[in-house]
Formats: sequence, C-alpha cells, structure tokens
Amino acid sequence: MPNASGSTTSTWMETADLPTFGPLDGDARVDICVVGAGIAGLTVAYELSRRGKSVLVLDDNPIGGGESGRTTGHLSDMLDEGFHLLEFLQGAEGARLAFESHRAAINRIEEICRDEEIDCDFDRVDGYLFAAEGQSPDDLEKELEACHRVGKSDVSPVDRAPMPGVDTGKALKHPGQGQFHVLKYLAGLAAAIGRRGCRICTGTRVSKIEGGSPCRVETDGGPTVEAGSVVVATNSPISDWLAIHTKQYPYRTYVVSLEVPAGAIPTAQFSDTADPYHYARIHPVRNREGKADHDLLIVGGEDHRVGEADDFDARFGRLEAWARERFPEAGEVEHRWSGQVLEPADGLAFIGEDPSGKENVFISTGDSGHGLTHGTIAGMLIPDLILGVDNPWAKLYDPSRKSLRSLRTFAGENLNVAAQYADWLTGGEVASANEIAPGSGAVVREGLKKVAVYRDESGTLHRRSAVCTHLQGIVRWNDLEKSWDCPCHGARYDPKGRVINGPAPMGLAEAE
Ligand SMILES: Cc1cc2nc3c(=O)[nH]c(=O)nc-3n(C[C@H](O)[C@H](O)[C@H](O)COP(=O)(O)OP(=O)(O)OC[C@H]3O[C@@H](n4cnc5c(N)ncnc54)[C@H](O)[C@@H]3O)c2cc1C
Ligand code: FES
Repeated sequence: MPNASGSTTSTWMETADLPTFGPLDGDARVDICVVGAGIAGLTVAYELSRRGKSVLVLDDNPIGGGESGRTTGHLSDMLDEGFHLLEFLQGAEGARLAFESHRAAINRIEEICRDEEIDCDFDRVDGYLFAAEGQSPDDLEKELEACHRVGKSDVSPVDRAPMPGVDTGKALKHPGQGQFHVLKYLAGLAAAIGRRGCRICTGTRVSKIEGGSPCRVETDGGPTVEAGSVVVATNSPISDWLAIHTKQYPYRTYVVSLEVPAGAIPTAQFSDTADPYHYARIHPVRNREGKADHDLLIVGGEDHRVGEADDFDARFGRLEAWARERFPEAGEVEHRWSGQVLEPADGLAFIGEDPSGKENVFISTGDSGHGLTHGTIAGMLIPDLILGVDNPWAKLYDPSRKSLRSLRTFAGENLNVAAQYADWLTGGEVASANEIAPGSGAVVREGLKKVAVYRDESGTLHRRSAVCTHLQGIVRWNDLEKSWDCPCHGARYDPKGRVINGPAPMGLAEAE
C-alpha cells in the first residue's frame, strides 16, 4: 500500500487499524491549532486536551501517514550521539537534562497507554550497546562513565550482548528501554483526543501560518482557522523559511524485518558503535486470538545524506547480512523500507517557539533517530510554553539556540548544501526521457532548464520543473520510495510533483 510519501515499500506496521477523519469543512476558532498528526502533533494535542484546551489537529494525510508510520518503534534513552559527546555539545547539565527528558518520555508513553487503555504492544526491554566490528571497546568505558555522570546509574558493563551468532565482546546494558507499535499508539491517542471534545481533520493541507493574537492558519481547501497558538508538528517545519533548516540535515535510513520463531531470540534492543550505526530489536507478532505467532527481527541503519546514494538494494543486502550473521535463527525477509530523518547539528531536537519570530507559533523538529521520544518531549514541553509554566527542558530544546561546539558539523553540512546547487550546472541524470523506464523518473537537462520527468506505468510522461520550491535546490529521483527528494533541506514531492513534506511550501512548478 503506498503511504503518504507515495512509497510502495512495506513496513512492519502496515496492518494497524487506523481511525479515519474527514477534512476541515468550514472556518474554525480554537485555543490551539496543531498542524501534523504524527507522534509530535498528536502528543501535543493530547496533552493540551487534558488541560482543558480546545484543540484542532490538521493533516493532509491520514494520522501517522508521515515518518511516524515508517519508524521501527524503539523508545530509547541510549541517545545516538552517546553521552560523552553530548556532554561536549550540550555541557554536563544539558546532557543530564537530555537523559532525564528522554527517560521521562518513555515513562510518559507507558503512563498514557495505562491511563487511556491503549493496547499497542508497549514493552520494557534491555538495550545493549557494543563495539562495531573492527572498533575498540575502549569507547564503551568512556560512555559508561558519562552515563553515570548524567545520572543514568542503571547502566552496567556485561561480558557480551545476548546475540546468538557472534561474541560481541564487552557491552553496555541499558535497562528500561521501551518499544511499541506506533500506529496502534497513535490510534489510541486520537481516540483519547476525541473523547475530550477536540477534533482531528485529515485531508487538509495547511498552506500558510501567520503568527499573532490570534494566529491565522490557511488551508488549501479554503477554510481558515483562528487560534490562540499554532503548533507546527510537520516533521520539517513549514512556518520557518531558513533559520531551522541550516541547523538540521536530511538523511535517508533503511530497515529490513525478518521472521524468527517466537521466543528464539531474547526480546532486547541492540546497537553498535559504527557510523552510521546498526540497530536491531525483536517485536512479538500475535495472531488473531492474541497468542504469540512469530517474532519480527527489525534491523536498521545504512543511512546516507538525502540524494547522495541510490544503491538501496546493496544497502538492504548489507543489513540482511549483518542480521543473519548475528541472528542465525532469522528466516525470510518480511519487509524492506526506508524513511527520512532530520539530524540536528548538536544532537537534540528543536522544540519551542518558532525561531523566525512568529508570535504564538511553536515548532517541533530535528527528530534524529529519537523522533518518538523527541515528539513525546514536545508533548510535555510545548503545552507548558503555551500556558506559561516553567519547564526545565525549555532552554535545552530552544529552536533559537546556537551551539558553538557543533560549528564543525554546521559548517560541513551547510557546505554540502551549497555544493548541491552545483546541480544547476551539471547535465541531467539521463540524456533523454527515452531512457526512463515505466514507474521511474529522472532529471533531464533541457537547454538551461532542468526538468523532473516521471514515466508512469502506462508509459505516459509527467514533466515538472526540477527546481525545489523551498530555496531552489535541484530535486533527485528516489527510485525506492518513488519520490522527488531535495538534497538541500529534505523537501519531498510525489512522482507528479505534489509536495509530500516541507519545507517546500508548494508542489514543483509546471515544466515550461
Ligand atoms: C526508518 C525510520 C526508523 C525510525 N526509528 C525510530 C525509532 O526507533 N525510535 C525513534 O524514537 N524514532 C525513530 N525514527 C524517527 C521517528 O520515527 C520520527 O522522527 C517521528 O515519527 C516523526 O514524528 P513527527 O510527528 O515529527 O513527524 P511525522 O510523523 O512525519 O508527522 C508530520 C505530519 O505532518 C503532516 N504535514 C506535513 N506538512 C503538512 C501541511 N502543509 N499541512 C498539513 N499536514 C502536513 C504530514 O502529513 C505528517 O502526517 C525513525 C524514523 C525512520 C524514518
Ligand atoms: S528543501 Fe530547501 S531547497 Fe529544497
């Protein structure tokens, strides 16, 4: 089933029963308008509904139709950067608050599941971090000490991670990690939002957001919303033009899931210290009677900057080989898919007031591999900011923050963005549209112009300008997910040029 991004790959969550909602059918006035019904938007909406606010959630897709529907469902406080690097980037207190907030997010999800009786396979498991092949385990010692300094005192060294196929050598055991089925969780949140009298409208694309008192939200379909505050939870913000997009960078990441007999592998989470790292977890699959049927071994990694690789078969192959070596019990591959994450320059999400200065507008972005906990932190932090309640995490996640210590990443990644504009001068991906196979696309140079040409399955050509409507990068064809992706700041368009996600404000222009 194609998802919001037009992809035909399948994820391990495709069977969830999601509630459906209609589009916004008239003007509305509410306390808070939330744009985006992924984990960030629905958690913010849920928490505000609990505080008695009138909330309207708008999304142009079904709930969970963005990156939340493509996740692997780890709820982890073993942060990707590692705490010894986070101490450098954020200072000792910042690293402590980062740990505290991610652990609080896992606890909050567990609490919400209990309070709202959401059956989403939530489970607590141990996480294991081990040295990647060819890497020294010495860094694990440094990480263990940093974990204890930030207050993560339950982390302990063990002789090896419980992976049946290889001796990983020394590993760090992180108890109390979480995992769940995200779409079932979002369905439960949506129901709880509805029970408190708040509304969700899907099929409603937001085209413009004005700050103020009140704020004003315009939709493609015509209706407008006036709201005391607007929360932009569109993964990549559509309210800010530049500020945030120089501080986070789009990466594509890959996942395979393999069938294993129920209980054959310990239910745990695993990650190594490679860059990009590999990660794996076990998810029990139940049959209709609720009994254990089989387990899924979900393995991810092989990330690259958007637009810089198209060898996805090789990447899936390497993930599968990595999994089979470590888990000889692994059977057939059940699913293969990819998704996009936004990597923040200094390791943490941007959650708080819109940095472009729009009054009463808030954003949540910079998800990295921890978007599920970051999105839940947004749900705990943004309502406090809106209601004027002090929150100890506000400064850490402030979208306007500047981090001198991440200057090297900032400079390197933005040089990479600048280099993408050289595409204006190069030839096309193919010499002519004749070389494009049915169901595929390519950028073709026509004189001074670059044209994004898609040939549909019946052979008809669809031509759009290849110039991204955000800041005029040149898009590239993503043959795995069947989309046009912009390597500059991660905007995506479907094969016919309709925008899938920001920061692009509109679809690709018609090719002249
Ligand atoms: C393969 C993969 C594996 C991952 N694994 C993990 C993991 O194990 N643990 C973890 O913590 N994180 C993980 N992540 C990251 C995490 O899944 C995401 O960061 C998170 O789900 C993003 O949630 P969100 O609510 O910010 O965005 P989304 O879920 O993308 O929601 C944004 C919503 O905004 C809507 N929208 C956008 N523009 C508009 C507009 N103009 N008008 C109306 N609606 C609009 C979209 O339709 C979408 O529904 C993973 C990501 C990927 C891709
Ligand atoms: S996403 Fe910024 S130029 Fe395309």
